[in-house]
Amino acid sequence: MAYCVDYSERANAQIYLYVQRSTQLQQAEADLLQSEFLRECLEKLEPVLVGVQDIICLGLGNFLDCTIARYQLAFIRCVRNKANLTAKGQFFDPVFTPSEVDTLQHALGETVLQENLEGKYSVERKTLFFLPHCPKQIVNNLLWKNWYPHRLPNVVLLCNSFSTVVNNAPDRLLRINAGYILRAVDLFQEVPLRNSFRFGDIFNDTSLHYFANNDRPAGDNAAVWDCTVEPSYAEDDLELISKEKLKAIRSAENSGAFALASKYITDQYRRFETTEQQHCRAKEELQFTAETYRCYLESLRKLKDLNESYRGKGERSIRDTADMVGFKLPHDPK
Ligand SMILES: C[S@@+](CC[C@H](N)C(=O)[O-])C[C@H]1O[C@@H](n2cnc3c(N)ncnc32)[C@H](O)[C@@H]1O
Repeated sequence: MAYCVDYSERANAQIYLYVQRSTQLQQAEADLLQSEFLRECLEKLEPVLVGVQDIICLGLGNFLDCTIARYQLAFIRCVRNKANLTAKGQFFDPVFTPSEVDTLQHALGETVLQENLEGKYSVERKTLFFLPHCPKQIVNNLLWKNWYPHRLPNVVLLCNSFSTVVNNAPDRLLRINAGYILRAVDLFQEVPLRNSFRFGDIFNDTSLHYFANNDRPAGDNAAVWDCTVEPSYAEDDLELISKEKLKAIRSAENSGAFALASKYITDQYRRFETTEQQHCRAKEELQFTAETYRCYLESLRKLKDLNESYRGKGERSIRDTADMVGFKLPHDPK
């Protein structure tokens, strides 16, 4: 069904969505703050987060549309505040929309990173990486980039459990697309976060990982640090959006090669693609939001029609009606 929507309707709908979304984020933070889940997480996280100077969050997803991503954003903000960390969050996800970038930077005071480093961040000081349900290649790249005895201890990771990754695929395959995760299992301490939150698909399979050289003498063995070959992945196995892929998408968008509709569909597809780590509820949510939005616009249109029909040409003014029945208005002379 086609709707011809005028600009004021659109502006109203946008304001309505904006208010709804800000409220949703505040609600998510409030919800977490009173949860047993967050309390338990903080007990495990706080001692490890002492001295963290930067917080980098990758692969959050579309937090304005998707409940999972919204709660994850709320989570990292609550953890930061409760653990008294002063760092701003630095966020990157190639699927962020302009409204999401704007919300992070201007409404929430966080930082949005511009460059797609595919996880290859070099870490010179203690940094918390929050990579909720992120492609394993991003974690693998991050480990590779910091695979030095003086750098790896700076990496604190909140992401999908290393043990799950390692236990779910044969070493032969892991050596190709997650070789550094495979090796990190012996160097990092893994602390699973018990998934007791009321929604089971937001923090599932999430663990805290930190370098634990004291407990793991493996780190003292020079051979551990020997091989530092940059990982490369087969294109068809690639869950992450690589620099090349992103460049191709953006240049297609800029060249106008995409009609608006096909661009929209591609965006939605990319946004709600389901990967091995995620059973995304966002597809249904998108449908629900679209249906709500359609209903809202349809109601506005009907209201406008009703106003036009019943308050139209035939309607008499108060003065006309008063004159007709012989009444005076309050300000008329006696
Ligand atoms: C499985 S989704 C997880 C989304 C959300 N955090 C969740 O748990 O539902 C993986 C996310 O990683 C993002 N991603 C892919 N390539 C990336 C890259 N190069 N850098 C940062 N994020 C990336 C995707 O855009 C997507 O949002």
